[in-house]
Amino acid sequence: MSTDTSLREPLPYEERIILDKWADRSCTLEQYRRLHSECTSNPEEHWARVAREIDWFKSFERVMEPGDHPNVYRWFPGGKINFSYLCLDRHVRTRNRNKVAIVWEGEPVDDRGQPLEKRVLSYYDLWRDVNRAAYLMSRKLRLKKGDAVAYYMPMVPELPALMLAAARLGVIFTQVFSGFSAEALATRVNDVGARYIFTTDGYYRRGSVIRTKDIVDKAVKDCPDVEGVVITRRLGLKDMTVDHERDMSYDVLLREVPANAYVEPEHLDSSDILYVLYTSGTTGKPKGIIHDNGGYAVILHATMKWVFDIRDEDLFWCTADIGWVTGHSYVVFGPLMVGASIVMYEGAPDYPEPDRWWSIIERYGVTIFYTSPTAVRALMRVSHDYVRRHDLSSLRLIHSVGEPINPSAWRWLFETIGGGRCPVGSTWWMTETGGILISHTPGLCLIPLKPGTNGWPLPGIEVEVVDDKGRPVKDGERGYLIIKRPWPGMLGPPTGMWREPERYSETYFSRFGYFFTGDYAIRDSDGYIWVLGRADEVLKVAGHRIGTYEIESALVSHPSVAEAAVVGIPDEVKGEVPIAYVVLRVGATAGSNMENELKEWIREKMGPISVPKNVFVVNKLPKTRSGKIMRRVIRAVATGMLIGDVTTLEDQAAVEEVKAAYEEMLKDLAKNE
Ligand code: WTA
Repeated sequence: MSTDTSLREPLPYEERIILDKWADRSCTLEQYRRLHSECTSNPEEHWARVAREIDWFKSFERVMEPGDHPNVYRWFPGGKINFSYLCLDRHVRTRNRNKVAIVWEGEPVDDRGQPLEKRVLSYYDLWRDVNRAAYLMSRKLRLKKGDAVAYYMPMVPELPALMLAAARLGVIFTQVFSGFSAEALATRVNDVGARYIFTTDGYYRRGSVIRTKDIVDKAVKDCPDVEGVVITRRLGLKDMTVDHERDMSYDVLLREVPANAYVEPEHLDSSDILYVLYTSGTTGKPKGIIHDNGGYAVILHATMKWVFDIRDEDLFWCTADIGWVTGHSYVVFGPLMVGASIVMYEGAPDYPEPDRWWSIIERYGVTIFYTSPTAVRALMRVSHDYVRRHDLSSLRLIHSVGEPINPSAWRWLFETIGGGRCPVGSTWWMTETGGILISHTPGLCLIPLKPGTNGWPLPGIEVEVVDDKGRPVKDGERGYLIIKRPWPGMLGPPTGMWREPERYSETYFSRFGYFFTGDYAIRDSDGYIWVLGRADEVLKVAGHRIGTYEIESALVSHPSVAEAAVVGIPDEVKGEVPIAYVVLRVGATAGSNMENELKEWIREKMGPISVPKNVFVVNKLPKTRSGKIMRRVIRAVATGMLIGDVTTLEDQAAVEEVKAAYEEMLKDLAKNE
């Protein structure tokens, strides 16, 4: 048995759980293996079959062809499509017209802890909102196909409407997570070339008011090409600053739009860009991941069916923030495309008490619940009475995503939340993959569950676990996870990575010749994949992807900091958290509050999720003779593991220092407890 998860729990390769309730959907490994190999041996035919299930204005001529840059593919060329049409127009012509599309709940509660705000939008309501938004964008703001806009929006129903309005026009949007800083926002706005920023005055989070517009005000100072800022009033803040040259009220603009405005959805090429979403890599600025329309639609359609087994009567709740890819794919585009009803919740899971999520599941009757291991670990630490207060019997299917789920968190989700009835899976995918690629498929056939595994790759998806040289490793051995064939939903044309075709190929294809995920994984003897975590300098902090390099760059931009090294250490709730070691500039003195000053600096520069748990000031960092900082050594010291081969290390004293700084912290912690 390996103890390779960051939380160091043994992985139960041999455990096999079969659910009575799902007996009619269960299949043996042999059956699944056959199904998988049939689909995967002729992937084009397989994906064409899936693609024919969705609505095209004009059918595609081929399944896939190479694009204009290496490793970029055009999926379903010849096909004409529109996501807004797929998610709305189609449904308003059927009996889904008056079906609930979105149930939204705001965070604030009354004295008795009861929610104060709820909005319910039918498909027809949402279709009208989207048409009016598209009208406003095209007629008032003169946005047209190929232009770009940025959304800096919290979890409000206007966000899906704006995403679908952009999709309707072929306007490329980039949503920037509303917890990011002004600087992070400005970088993304400039890189994508956004003409407008859409935001809110603010939102509620854990009982506080977050003033989004203030952050935008700061960001736009560095965005010379932005023509205007459009603001939705979420809070109705009286003291919001307004720049009359630049700022526009969304509500005021909408007043000038005819109530029954209709905007014809553009007939887009399958490989036209739907959105660009920035994510962290190991070096340099964040990567703008491009997703197309046709391929992305196909992977979402397939996974809504196979992974989520979506049915008419379901109420689907993906708890992710729309700022991350999970929210793009499984709050907005995936579920709306298949005509599902979704839940959207504005706030924190533990506000006003740690049973808010269970209360939402009970009050609305959520049937499918898609969440993150970090949230599960946080909520399982509090008294189980918070769960027992609520009737969760509406649930029938549960999945997690974003990071490995340790077996004990899986068991809690399975037993305490799912009552032992619901399949519980851990769906593996990335911003780059567009949709889920490795997962149990209860909607197709369900192989036995194992606590913590990702399961088999989906039909049509072929992965391999390889060593340094790209040779497959034996079952049960750790290696690097690669994807062996292109798949619909992969990074889209024209360049895979926004304006950086070389970086795209270099990042993902140069090492093995196949798409390299950056993850460590094990395949067990049943063919199940267990993704163990990142094999590179990317952290998953509470499931959020953060590059250590980005934190280091932010640290060294502080006037007192000469060098910085950031590593991840295991954390019982968040999976992993960053800690930083810094060397100060000559002449700079480490005042007693240097640690706090640097943490505050990171919060300002990057946003709260990137703030290191500790910042240690040291005299030297361990480096190789050629001057490269040895993060491996630092991580090993910090996590108390063996250091391994340090013969190339220049200075043993530096290791000792890092060790001493870390031990000092442990002592402090012990004192406080
Ligand atoms: C990790 C999130 C284990 C993995 C959709 C991947 C997972 C990175 C899982 C992508 C899972 C995601 N089990 N690890 N079920 N899902 N990961 O781009 O390290 O934010 O490479 O996409 O999350 O993170 P991203």
